[in-house]
Amino acid sequence: MTNTLNTLLIEKANSGTPSDTQPWCAYVYDLHALAAHAQHMKQQLPRNCQLYYAAKANPDVRLLQTLAPHVDGFEAASAGELAHLNKQQFGKPLIFGGPGKTSEDLQQALHQQVACIHVESLTELKRLALLCAHTGRTQAIMLRMNIALDGVASSKLQMGGQATPFGLDPSDLGGALALLQESPKLQFEGFHFHSMSHQLSVENHLKLMARYFEITRQWESQWHIRCKLLNVGGGIGVNYECVDEQFNWSEFCNGLGQLITQHDMQTRQIRFECGRYVSAFCGHYVMEVIDLKQSHGQWFAIGKGGTHHFRTPAAQNHNHPVWVHRNGQAAVVLNSTVNVVGQLCTPKDRLHQQLPVQELALGDFLVFTLAGAYAWNISHQNFLMHAPPEVVYLD
Ligand SMILES: Cc1ncc(COP(=O)(O)O)c(C=O)c1O
Repeated sequence: MTNTLNTLLIEKANSGTPSDTQPWCAYVYDLHALAAHAQHMKQQLPRNCQLYYAAKANPDVRLLQTLAPHVDGFEAASAGELAHLNKQQFGKPLIFGGPGKTSEDLQQALHQQVACIHVESLTELKRLALLCAHTGRTQAIMLRMNIALDGVASSKLQMGGQATPFGLDPSDLGGALALLQESPKLQFEGFHFHSMSHQLSVENHLKLMARYFEITRQWESQWHIRCKLLNVGGGIGVNYECVDEQFNWSEFCNGLGQLITQHDMQTRQIRFECGRYVSAFCGHYVMEVIDLKQSHGQWFAIGKGGTHHFRTPAAQNHNHPVWVHRNGQAAVVLNSTVNVVGQLCTPKDRLHQQLPVQELALGDFLVFTLAGAYAWNISHQNFLMHAPPEVVYLD
């Protein structure tokens, strides 16, 4: 990636005196790297596992097109995402989850013939049963469950294992299964679990998988049901603090293979719906330095753009990894630290605090890595009505 990106940065810097003309700001996506990464993820998984992409991480059409040949399908978390994915006609199954689905959302999902709907509450199950009875359509469903996670380490973003609006409480399972028995148009496929995101530990994620397998087994014998499929969600984290210490997917897949054998899960399909870990690595957000100033003894580098384009550092409250591409102007800052900020009139518009730099000048590029997931699409893009960044695809 870096070589091709470097070539692009050099070309951009040479295409005019950057700071004197229109300063540059862009998302740069390496589609080749994205394809290779997704292919690797899919290849490493045990045979009875599937890899879906959670489009919420980044629904950019070119990214989706690149991923389509390498994933088993796509997960949508809203009617809008569902319509967006459906429009692309990838010929890959679409699955539909997320809390608070209205009858209209469910109707759209039925109309689009989604492969599976993840039901998040008894109300939703009743809504769907009614719609299927009226339309005569049959629909495959999974019950999303929010289970206790005793003995499993938590991550910094929990959707389950505690009180949350996601999934069904285990105390509602009996009611849900009774409703399913009365609704022949709803085909129960199995359970869906997505309990946490930002998981950085292979060991802890394997413990989580083991918990899912155990509870599935327990419920199967308790309720006399059989699950064809288990959706184990996404949640694999990206290490923004120590970029060289990423989640080891191959090691995880090895451990998962052993767990599947231990829990006798070989005859069930195990489905992942990963977002962040699929697309984060392929994206870079580039800001050109448009001002350098000192305030109360600290340097500030003001870049073209900011958190209205790239909310990830503010959303995660972290210093986002960034490097400097020098563009040949004489350095203004030498061997110091700078606060990297954007163009918004709020002190919250900080992307990196106290970044050590050897040299920095106007016109240099600040290159933020790991910007391919939950970045542009989670940003408050209209705040102050600045122009959007350019989007460049390296393929
Ligand atoms: C139900 C569900 N599935 C999958 C994902 C994707 O998670 P991640 O991007 O952490 O892999 C999320 C994220 O919030 C989710 O809520």
